[in-house]
Amino acid sequence: MVCLTFLPASPSTTAMAQDAKAQSQIEKAFPHSSKCKRCHERVYEEWETSPMAKSIHSPAYRAALAVYLNSTMGKDKALCFRCHAPHVREFSDHAQLFVDQAKAGDPSLDGVACSQCHLIKSLDLSNHPPEPKYEIGSKTLYGPYGDFVQNLAHQSMELGLFQKSDLCLNCHQSVPSASNLGKTNDLLGNWDQSRAVRSGKECQTCHMPQQVGESANGEKKRKIANHSFPGRVGKLRQEAAKLDVQTKVDGDKTTVTVKVQSLVPHNLPTTHPAWASVVLGLEIKGKNLKTVFSDKRVYGRTYLDAQGQKTVFDFEATKVAEDTVLKPEETREEIFTFPTPKDTKTFDVEVGLNYAPLNGPASFLERVETESSKGSQDPVFQPIEIVRRTENVPVGK
Ligand code: HEC
Ligand code: HEC
Ligand code: HEC
Ligand code: HEC
Ligand code: HEC
Repeated sequence: MVCLTFLPASPSTTAMAQDAKAQSQIEKAFPHSSKCKRCHERVYEEWETSPMAKSIHSPAYRAALAVYLNSTMGKDKALCFRCHAPHVREFSDHAQLFVDQAKAGDPSLDGVACSQCHLIKSLDLSNHPPEPKYEIGSKTLYGPYGDFVQNLAHQSMELGLFQKSDLCLNCHQSVPSASNLGKTNDLLGNWDQSRAVRSGKECQTCHMPQQVGESANGEKKRKIANHSFPGRVGKLRQEAAKLDVQTKVDGDKTTVTVKVQSLVPHNLPTTHPAWASVVLGLEIKGKNLKTVFSDKRVYGRTYLDAQGQKTVFDFEATKVAEDTVLKPEETREEIFTFPTPKDTKTFDVEVGLNYAPLNGPASFLERVETESSKGSQDPVFQPIEIVRRTENVPVGK
């Protein structure tokens, strides 16, 4: 005989109700991006295409999060979300909710969205990385305008921080690791010494380019900033590097000298996640355009864990074994030597600089594949071209 009325509510129903309550509490403090879309449609649509809109969705993030949570550091459940969904900082008791939603693959919580930036009131620059300070319960949104138009949804306030790199540094400057790698785990390098930055450029100048348009629906005449955050995706990539290719045929031996000139005022690539790398590939195509020689150089960092084994997870890293990233505005010269192609009057020299596809242990790659609705066709498994040069070289006498 079972008397249902005396059974306690099933744990899962209670948990769901608690989660819903927690989420509405979180979204009261950090209004969901869908609330801003109504009046800021252009900004919303740009942001929606940016990687930031998917900062807790991606298969690579979810797979790496799982590895992290199983690691010795994994007790701090909020750690990854501190930058990928920074409102967790104010709701650390609910870190599990963020974890559960990210794991499920279709989170309704925002990651790096409108409120997560526009509610930042100040930064504590004494910490490394700097800490954003939010004022919970405030309805004031901070932004670049002093002469803002009033609106019915929120108060506005001008904050100079929004036109400064500092705002971006709090997530982009460095990431935690198993031991304090200090400067070696710095993601950007000596960016503040670069020509671009010394000439007055901020992160926003390149990654949030300005134009004139609507700041809110129906508002015209203003300088506005692009919110699609061009990086690996977008046209900015074409401004990342120049390749100068010189080929010298010397009898049976040919030498190709490639000068890779980085135009980026910070490290290329930035090395979080730790598998991030840029590859310079060389291919020599001889008779019938068959590849007769190929070689490459990899720009990135090799990290070692506490056991001295290579790791692609920076949260396990205790040491940097090798660092080949292109430093801010650096020109690197690479020399390739190979036998001169035979039975042909000319050959092609193809040189390309690409962001490398995802890399790591087989079990991790499989996990990413399983997490992705596109499986092995997920874009993370494809290289992304930065620049390419092809030259046809006569073999001569
Ligand atoms: C609250 C943390 C946070 C802040 C503040 C922040 N970012 Fe990001 N940003 C991220 C995260 C997380 C990603 C990666 C999203 C993903 O792909 O999962 C990202 C991605 C990017 C990308 C795309 C990178 C690529 O590989 O294509 C660019 C560009 C970028 N941010 C620029 C900026 C600029 C410029 C600022 C300052 C105006 C800024 N970010 C402020 C967290 C932040
Ligand atoms: C200090 C801020 C910060 C912390 C902490 C952080 N990330 Fe990130 N993460 C970023 C930023 C910024 C990017 C974008 C970097 C870029 O594109 O150059 C990023 C990108 C990524 C990416 C590649 C983009 C994507 O979504 O597939 C993965 C994967 C990732 N992070 C995983 C993690 C994991 C797992 C943790 C916790 C162990 C973590 N991150 C902790 C700031 C952070
Ligand atoms: C990574 C941080 C970040 C995120 C996420 C972000 N913004 Fe911004 N936003 C900025 C910065 C920085 C500026 C000022 C840029 C400048 O003037 O150079 C800005 C400017 C603005 C402005 C002034 C008009 C304009 O277009 O420049 C509005 C309105 C705005 N953001 C709304 C939003 C909305 C709505 C969202 C979400 C869909 C959003 N922002 C997401 C950082 C962010
Ligand atoms: C009812 C319409 C409406 C809604 C909803 C709305 N905004 Fe606005 N917002 C405006 C108007 C109008 C302006 C003034 C634009 C101007 O002065 O050019 C503005 C200005 C801003 C600015 C610039 C403030 C400054 O001083 O630089 C930011 C940032 C901003 N909104 C962010 C947001 C965010 C984030 C949300 C969602 C949480 C949001 N807005 C929701 C109408 C709205
Ligand atoms: C002079 C222009 C310029 C400035 C200033 C600049 N960047 Fe970049 N950034 C680039 C270019 C070019 C690339 C490489 C091509 C690409 O990925 O679009 C890049 C790439 C990136 C990437 C993605 C690629 C990667 O290696 O992960 C991130 C994230 C990024 N920048 C963040 C920042 C931050 C944060 C700042 C401010 C401290 C900043 N950038 C300042 C031009 C700039």
